[in-house]
Amino acid sequence: MNGEMGQDILKVLYTEEEIAARVRELGAEMAPKFQDKRPIFISVLRGAFIFMADIVRACQVPCDVEFIAVSSYGDATASSGVVKITHDIQQDISGRHLVVVEDILDSGNTLSFLQQYFLTKGAASVTICTLLDKPERRKKAIHADYVGFAVPDEFVVGYGLDYAQKYRNLPYIGILKPEVYSN
Ligand code: PRP
Repeated sequence: MNGEMGQDILKVLYTEEEIAARVRELGAEMAPKFQDKRPIFISVLRGAFIFMADIVRACQVPCDVEFIAVSSYGDATASSGVVKITHDIQQDISGRHLVVVEDILDSGNTLSFLQQYFLTKGAASVTICTLLDKPERRKKAIHADYVGFAVPDEFVVGYGLDYAQKYRNLPYIGILKPEVYSN
């Protein structure tokens, strides 16, 4: 919690070491399932970029990596639930096993859209791996296959997660002080 960004953090939820240990566990748990499947790990930009880099190294199986970027139409604080792809994946996924890598599963709008999108494109399977899950906020019937941590409904930042594009490079996950976003 040192440094300029650290002063905006109310409480550290997960330290760098705790995150690393959990990501290693998740990777080890996933590896046997995907050993002979040559999965494509697809990171949902931007929030998942740090988790993506760590989970693919924790899951030591031959794989491809891809990146997709999406945005929700309308006001970000009251998402309409309509998701638009702003950068698409670059390869054919028909018949392939996908692991969609997210930093956080919140309302479920993003992942429920992407799951449907990938299945429509002919994916053989879509596995969802999210570092954080906020089950209380769910609006869509979507379930993550692999979850790092279930978190309370607080404003969390760090390890990829932002507030107004800031704090993504904090090495830990923390709760943002309310005064930072209520001004
Ligand atoms: C966040 C997060 C997920 C999505 C989850 O992205 O990275 O993609 O919201 O919310 P949902 O379950 O309610 O759809 P955000 O739109 O903040 O963009 P970012 O990844 O660039 O931070």
